[in-house]
Amino acid sequence: MSRFLKLAVFAGALAALPAATLGTAQAQDADAGEKVFRKCKACHAVGEGAGNKVGPHLNDLFGRTAGMIRDFKYSNAMKAAGEGGLVWDDESIATYLINPKDMVKGTKMAFAGLKKDEDRADVIAYLKTFSAGGGEEAPATQESKAEEPEAKTEMAAAAPAVMAKDVAVPEHGVFHLGREALNEEIAAWDIDIRPDGTGLPVGRGTVAQGEPIYADNCAVCHGDFGEGTGRWPVLAGGHDTLTEERPEKTIGSYWPYLSTVYDYVRRAMPFGNARSLSDDDVYALTAYLLYLNDVVTDEDFELSNENFTDIHLPNEENFFMDDRASEPHYAEKSEPCMKDCKAEPAKITMRARVLDVTPEGEDGEGAGAIE
Ligand code: HEC
Ligand code: HEC
Repeated sequence: MSRFLKLAVFAGALAALPAATLGTAQAQDADAGEKVFRKCKACHAVGEGAGNKVGPHLNDLFGRTAGMIRDFKYSNAMKAAGEGGLVWDDESIATYLINPKDMVKGTKMAFAGLKKDEDRADVIAYLKTFSAGGGEEAPATQESKAEEPEAKTEMAAAAPAVMAKDVAVPEHGVFHLGREALNEEIAAWDIDIRPDGTGLPVGRGTVAQGEPIYADNCAVCHGDFGEGTGRWPVLAGGHDTLTEERPEKTIGSYWPYLSTVYDYVRRAMPFGNARSLSDDDVYALTAYLLYLNDVVTDEDFELSNENFTDIHLPNEENFFMDDRASEPHYAEKSEPCMKDCKAEPAKITMRARVLDVTPEGEDGEGAGAIE
């Protein structure tokens, strides 16, 4: 079928759509809203035991004053909006979600916005199911404030099986500090994967399986095709840019080893919800990232611990061992200079903070709040 024909058929299908789906399209549908909420999930939790992630939890949102969840570090803009009387209800949430930065200038919610009226209505209907009284009338802000500590106790109750405090304090050493690490602690920490495949867990996943996992967990920040939304990192493309003044360093253009992709995604992504993916999910995502980078082209391609080291990234051969120690330029200087040393101890004359070279925390910090 020619491209034109395909388009024509597609347009035909669209034209037929409204008649068939009008009924559901108009209702505010909490079930549909749950799907829309996948776009928010990377940053927000809602429901029982929900805590803050990249963004604040969204329980009891309706009637809640903007910027009031204690323990969450809001932007100054959001705090000011709350102090100025912004309360979350159907209308204000809808306006915020069209384009967060339009409504609250300087907000650190790095989200492009929901452009479809229906998506906004659905996600609002969904969030309402987690608000006391369904948001029918605004509950007093005081109330939701009072509920917070309770939620915290619940979270504290879900403690790990072995707690460091259960292990005897040592008698040895000057400070009586330190103890042997528990096997559980070592296992949780020892998750590195090396280029030769050492450390890979047993598992598998295909490109096709990776696609929906990526769409749900990664695309809000990294874009549908790894192109990066806003200033979140780009994950694909950039081929042939390495010699340019501003090279685009991606998995496909720059990274030497696939093991880094698996290790990094399993260890650190999705940002704000790290270690939430299964090992098979990470195989599927790694396969999908290979696909986005044109390293594999078949959607049925399956990546597993067995074929992992067969895959080589395009830029691998441009990495080589650092042999500086054997280069004459460095070898000559191998004896450190011990002449003209200062006799008295060094004196601190100024602190970086005073010199004003350390950026202030606040808005630039955390959450990738890049303006
Ligand atoms: C990339 C991360 C990210 C995504 C995606 C995201 N948010 Fe946010 N959201 C934040 C951050 C961070 C804040 C705090 C904003 C501030 O302090 O300026 C926030 C704040 C909010 C607030 C205000 C809460 C309060 O306590 O005042 C609401 C409501 C909200 N988000 C709803 C949503 C919804 C609904 C979606 C999905 C359609 C969404 N957000 C997607 C990061 C995100
Ligand atoms: C809330 C936004 C967000 C989400 C969702 C997210 N990431 Fe990231 N990702 C980031 C940020 C921020 C960095 C850079 C972190 C840093 O440099 O410390 C990053 C870095 C990466 C990198 C390294 C990029 C590079 O070239 O340095 C990879 C690979 C990656 N993410 C994959 C994923 C995958 C796979 C998912 C989904 C499971 C995901 N990310 C979800 C924000 C996000």
